[in-house]
Amino acid sequence: NTAIAAAERLKQSANRLWYIALFAKQFDIDLEYRAVHVEIGGFEQAVSGFEANGGQGLNVTVPFKLNAWKFADVLSDRANLAGAVNTLSLGKTVKGDNTDGIGLVTDIKTRLGVDIRDACVLIVGAGGAVRGVLGPILAEQPEQVFVANRTKDKAVALADVFAQYGNIISGGLDEVRGRTYDIVIDATSSELTGSLPEIPSGVFQDAQLAYSMMYAARPTQFQLLAIEHGATNTADGLGMLVEQAAESFFSGTAKSQKPIR
Ligand code: ATR
Repeated sequence: NTAIAAAERLKQSANRLWYIALFAKQFDIDLEYRAVHVEIGGFEQAVSGFEANGGQGLNVTVPFKLNAWKFADVLSDRANLAGAVNTLSLGKTVKGDNTDGIGLVTDIKTRLGVDIRDACVLIVGAGGAVRGVLGPILAEQPEQVFVANRTKDKAVALADVFAQYGNIISGGLDEVRGRTYDIVIDATSSELTGSLPEIPSGVFQDAQLAYSMMYAARPTQFQLLAIEHGATNTADGLGMLVEQAAESFFSGTAKSQKPIR
C-alpha cells in the first residue's frame, strides 16, 4: 500500500511538472519548475532555502498543505476557507493560495460540460481534500451538497463550517440512500489502499457524472463501480490536476507577468 501511494504521488508530481512547463512555454516565460523532495519536519527550512536561492513561488502537495497554510503571511479567501495552501508566492509578504477547488470546478464545468449550478451533488469523504473543494463547489450554487463520510462526525463538522456558503447536509455513508444525485464525487483516499467507500450503488442511478478525485493509468475502482450502476459519465482527477496547475500558474505567474527564474 505504501508503494502504491508513493507511485501515485510520483506520477502526480511528474505530470504537474509537465503542465506548468507547458504553460510557461506558451507565455514565453523563462521558468524552472521541478519536484523537490522534502522530509517530514523540514518544510519551513526547505522553503526558506528555496527563497534564498532565488525561488519566487511554489506548489505544495501532500502532506505539507497545512504547513504551507501556516507559513503564509496572508491568505487568499479560498485558502483560508480550504484550511490548506497548495500555492505559495514568496517575497516580503508570503501569499498563500489554494487552487484545488477551482481546479475541480473548472474541470467539471469546462472539460466535462456538467453544470454544478442547481445540481444535487454527493461528496464522499470528509478529509482535507473535501475541505479544499467545498467552497468553490458551493459558490456554483448547486441545489444541495451532501457530504457523506465513513466517520460521520467529520462530515457533520465540515457541513457546519460550510453551512453559511450554501445548502449543505451531511451524514454517514449509509444515509445517502433514498435520494438521487446529478454528480457523485469520491474524495476519499480509499483508492490508495485498493479499497472503496461502502456507498450504496443506487447513488449512481441518475448521475450524469461520477468523479474520482484520484487518478491512475486505468479507470479507478470508483469509476468502474459508477459505470456498472448507471452513471452516464465518469472521470478521474487528472483534469483537476491540470486545472489546479493552470490556476496556480496564472494567479502566481502569468497575471503578474513577472518571469520566474
Ligand atoms: P485527504 O487529505 O486525502 O482528504 P484525509 O484527511 O486523511 O486525506 O481523509 C481521507 C478521507 O478518506 C476520510 O474521509 C476517510 O474517511 P474517515 O474519515 O472515516 O477515515 C476516507 N477514507 C479513506 N479510506 C476509506 C475507505 N476505505 N472507505 C471509506 N472512506 C475512506
